[in-house]
Amino acid sequence: MSIPGNYPGFALADKVYYENTTDWEKILEIAKEEKIDGIVTAGTDVAVITIGKVCDALGLCGLSCRGATIATNKLLMKEVYEKNGVRTAKYRKIAFDAPDVYEKIDELSLPLIFKAVDSSGSRGITRVDRREDFAEAIALAKKYTRKDYFIVEEFIEGEEFGAQAFVYQGKVQFIMPHGDYVFHGDTGVPIGHFVPYELDDAVIEDAKEQLRLAIAAMELDNCAINADFILKDNKTYVLEIGGRSGATCLAESVSIYYGFDYYEKILLAALGEKNLDFTGHAQVPNASHLLMSDRDGVIRSITNRNGENPDIYEILFDHGVGEKVEKFRIGPHRIGHVVTKGETLEKAVALLHETMDNIEIEVEG
Ligand SMILES: Nc1ncnc2c1ncn2[C@@H]1O[C@H](COP(=O)(O)OP(=O)(O)O)[C@@H](O)[C@H]1O
Ligand SMILES: [Mg+2]
Repeated sequence: MSIPGNYPGFALADKVYYENTTDWEKILEIAKEEKIDGIVTAGTDVAVITIGKVCDALGLCGLSCRGATIATNKLLMKEVYEKNGVRTAKYRKIAFDAPDVYEKIDELSLPLIFKAVDSSGSRGITRVDRREDFAEAIALAKKYTRKDYFIVEEFIEGEEFGAQAFVYQGKVQFIMPHGDYVFHGDTGVPIGHFVPYELDDAVIEDAKEQLRLAIAAMELDNCAINADFILKDNKTYVLEIGGRSGATCLAESVSIYYGFDYYEKILLAALGEKNLDFTGHAQVPNASHLLMSDRDGVIRSITNRNGENPDIYEILFDHGVGEKVEKFRIGPHRIGHVVTKGETLEKAVALLHETMDNIEIEVEG
């Protein structure tokens, strides 16, 4: 089920409906007609509400509509975090037409981050260091939201990292913290990841504790979890949590690290499989990075000089010669990715760089 576009699933599916996955009424109608056994997504929040609606209506195994609603609204998420003692940045909800917008914002300390609550991929999100820049940040939040309010958070200076996890039948099955490579545009945009993320045991335990609290607070009981954190003074702050697996090679990373096919587990979970086992026996270090363009233009050539290497897990090009690409600013501007593994994280990362150096994508602006 998808809108038409350059999506690899079409070639694999037995049956395709070219529908917008945000149109939950339409999707529910088709789900009933088809008597489906499960519904699931990966890597994006776009269809999460629809999944919640369909799971509730048909009694399928997945997130509830309530969980889905919280997981796709940054304000609701902040509210349940605050109520349940999850460590998170201080914030304010502000109506665009409130008479005292500036007074409300002044209750927080600079630097700040202004957010549209219902967008993703850093759209409508701006870091602000000076009061003069409030107006522009508000205008940007307004441009990307369908709500009549936005939120402002205190900006936490620290190191971004994340975790993939799965909650099944109400129980957290695994938590895999990962390091993030971040592109610093208007906000941080993840452009790659690595596992394991080596921190002191106490710090990892604290991160896991915050994640468990957040999952419970958000009432997520049957879904993959994609968590964004910031580490400051060895304390984990929860930025946001999605009720689906992460993008930017994160599901691949889980598969490599634990030595099982994570996408298969995700599908089996959506089918309500009994006794689904998420125990991984391997712990294989791995790293991934997006391929990106430094300019708007058209791809003139793609050269891949990499030889066969079992530790190169995947090289993927989203676009071919003659296709238009954009100068990288946000996740959807990616033009491909590389995933590597190794005996140690150092080896996996060294191979990642080597592999990327052996790829040349010529873009004519
Ligand atoms: N309170 C904060 N402190 C510091 N950085 C933040 C904060 N909130 C968001 N960011 C930065 O902005 C990025 C996007 O914010 P996020 O809430 O995760 O929205 P999105 O849905 O776009 O991923 C984060 O990955 C991080 O780099
Ligand atoms: Mg995020």
